[in-house]
Amino acid sequence: MRFKMTFVSITFAVQKSFPEMNNRRSFRRKYLYKLLKKIGVRNMGFMTGEEFSSGVDFACKLDQDDYLSSYRQEFYHPRDTIYLDGNSLGLFSHRAEKKLLQALKEWQELAIAGWTKAEPPWFWYGEKLGELTAPLLGAKTRETIVTGSTTLNIHQLIATLYQPETIGHEILIDELNFPSDHYAVKSQLKLLGGDPDKDLIVVKSVDGVTIAEEDIIEKFSQKVGLALLPSVQYQSGQLLDIERLTEAAHRHNIIIGFDLAHSIGAVPHQLSDLGVDFAVWCNYKYLNAGPGAVGGLYLNNKHLGREPALAGWWGHDKSTQFEMKKDFRSADTAGALQIGTIPVLSSAPLFGSLEMINEIGIEKVRERSLKLTGYLLYLIEKRLSGLKIDFSVNTPLEPERRGGHIALRPHREAYKINEALKDRGIIGDFREPDTIRLAPSPLYTSFQDIWKSVDELREIVINDKYQEFSSSRSEVT
Ligand SMILES: Cc1ncc(COP(=O)(O)O)c(C=O)c1O
Repeated sequence: MRFKMTFVSITFAVQKSFPEMNNRRSFRRKYLYKLLKKIGVRNMGFMTGEEFSSGVDFACKLDQDDYLSSYRQEFYHPRDTIYLDGNSLGLFSHRAEKKLLQALKEWQELAIAGWTKAEPPWFWYGEKLGELTAPLLGAKTRETIVTGSTTLNIHQLIATLYQPETIGHEILIDELNFPSDHYAVKSQLKLLGGDPDKDLIVVKSVDGVTIAEEDIIEKFSQKVGLALLPSVQYQSGQLLDIERLTEAAHRHNIIIGFDLAHSIGAVPHQLSDLGVDFAVWCNYKYLNAGPGAVGGLYLNNKHLGREPALAGWWGHDKSTQFEMKKDFRSADTAGALQIGTIPVLSSAPLFGSLEMINEIGIEKVRERSLKLTGYLLYLIEKRLSGLKIDFSVNTPLEPERRGGHIALRPHREAYKINEALKDRGIIGDFREPDTIRLAPSPLYTSFQDIWKSVDELREIVINDKYQEFSSSRSEVT
């Protein structure tokens, strides 16, 4: 309570002294954070909006008091590990296993008849999984389809929606966007006769860690035809303001799409209501559908009925698909953007994951996710301050600006520190050049896991344990 009061009064004082900052919310927060740091206020855990205490008994109590703690038992946990890498590859659940085994049994017993007689029929897997994913996106069933992979779906959507002859000829992306998104956008520009050096607008990050919405909006113009942005930035965990960006893009007739790889399953969305044009995601992170699991795409109602640029028989109107006509008759849903046969075995586990998330409700999942990351931020501030290695946090502290993971930046030796963590069974991941990402899964990470991870981190630094590890990189970090 005392923290909250302090925060409110300092915010008020800052707003009064610098009124020009009042219409720039994120900038104001950032400024406030810097100002507090400058005047020596070290404990900023209160900015997470949670009140915590630092003992392990408090972590136990948080676990006991949360009814969602029981979902932890739904997952297989690798032996002797605390798994904080669910934003790269989520853990295997019993329900996912059950659905996968069911698909294998159907293959065994039904063979080809599985396409129509499996439960649900494999022929409709993409549509059925789309229907179950739609609530996580705030989308309509017909706008959502499970198919392809994030990168493949970016290609399909850009090729279908970007028409430089009728809309602006430039494509906008941000500097920090995932490499595959950059590659896809550049190659699409080339395919359509553009020149990435001139026609690709790359919005720069001011701090190298986050992208300011203001800077993106400043680059919107009638020359921009399409924008592809992340919902949550994969390195820092910054959550962008999708509503604000969509409104601004539409004022310039820009088609706007989001890569939801780091938000789906952790953050709720309102894609239909906001009129977002398109979105893509993968299902192997917070949706725990397995390594290389099938991806998904959303296409707003207003674009349905458009012929896909990359047509394939799986996007054909299903009622006549097997007439085998040579003329393509497009499905009238987002399903039209499917290209080839759905990979049944890498889709089946997703049924189990979506059943679990829909049972809880995505809003509750987000609530728990924020509490876990808030607690982690609090412990970082409380227990890692003043050590010989200084830790900074690259993730925005405000709950409405952070996704599901926390990006920690030790001021040196990040790779070695992460290796030392792994050696102790704490699995986060390292991202070049100097970031350790820790992702508490709202479904299976406990508050005690968080407490123990920070405790080990503290011990690794205090006793120079990271010095025992090499900084030569492995093939996959
Ligand atoms: C933000 C983001 N976009 C795109 C991708 C690429 O996904 P895929 O390999 O499934 O196409 C990833 C993979 O981790 C990602 O994190």
